[in-house]
Amino acid sequence: MTQSHHGHEHGPQDPDQQKAQARGRIEQMKRQFEQKKAIADTLSEIKYKIGVYSGKGGVGKTTVAVNLATALAQDGARVGILDVDIDCPNVIRAMKIVDPPTMTEDKRLIPPQRFGVGVMSMGFFQQDEEEAIIWRGPMIHNAINQLLQTTMWGPLDYLIIDLPPGTSDAPLSIMQALTLDGFVVVTTPQELAKIDAMRSINMIKKLQVDVLGVVENLSGPIFGSGAGEDLANQMELNFLGRVELRPDYRDTSRPTVLSSPDVLSEYRHIAAETQKALDAVSTPA
Ligand SMILES: Nc1ncnc2c1ncn2[C@@H]1O[C@H](COP(=O)(O)OP(=O)(O)O)[C@@H](O)[C@H]1O
Ligand SMILES: [Mg+2]
Repeated sequence: MTQSHHGHEHGPQDPDQQKAQARGRIEQMKRQFEQKKAIADTLSEIKYKIGVYSGKGGVGKTTVAVNLATALAQDGARVGILDVDIDCPNVIRAMKIVDPPTMTEDKRLIPPQRFGVGVMSMGFFQQDEEEAIIWRGPMIHNAINQLLQTTMWGPLDYLIIDLPPGTSDAPLSIMQALTLDGFVVVTTPQELAKIDAMRSINMIKKLQVDVLGVVENLSGPIFGSGAGEDLANQMELNFLGRVELRPDYRDTSRPTVLSSPDVLSEYRHIAAETQKALDAVSTPA
């Protein structure tokens, strides 16, 4: 590395400088190692980490994440939601969180609980909701690492992660920072959404994270239904279930699974199918 283009003008470095550089590199490696270990420790008590993902925004990714998490908690599972959709961290609002995380003496964060679900979100650290932060690759990586290191989830059965949509650096960077057990793809019945979803699934498959399956949201007479299942068949993925478009979602006082038995049963079905897919990927054939 000392033979860089600029190195020539300064001549060879003196040994002290070289030693200092080597020490610096070792320190940095140590820090990285400790960071990785700290993350592994905090996540070690989590059984399944499931990313919820979509090809584009507005298809109901947050709605699916929140209702899936709440349905699982209703049935007795220990559940957390991690909101790392950095441009639209909407989980705080969807879960009606009023209190920020509490900080322990050793500066670790305890996620606030609501409807039986622990919630941690990038949104807690955003100063101004109106002001968009332009996140760049390394910033995303550092912020996620920081969040993962400091959050004390405790033992969980499921951590549901609301990922950023699309094929930009953001979802990739996050999927790399986190070791997911798999992801659930949310799509809508429209043909265009299917194409978007397909493109993103193909890109993300390259990261070698398992696709647990596809959820079709907004199904029904207005947008039609079936494109999600088509997509799943075409790409040889599991179809996890269909969620109908309903007026019930207008009541934003709580996740809709808590007010509509029909919606709860849709999500129970998706939860069961997701668990089947998790079992299939964790026991190789
Ligand atoms: N099945 C559904 N029926 C009716 N409205 C829905 C349904 N799913 C989502 N919505 C509404 O659509 C909007 C966008 O959903 P959201 O989950 O925020 O999308 P995303 O996270 O993909 O951007 C929200 O207002 C949400 O309440
Ligand atoms: Mg969202």
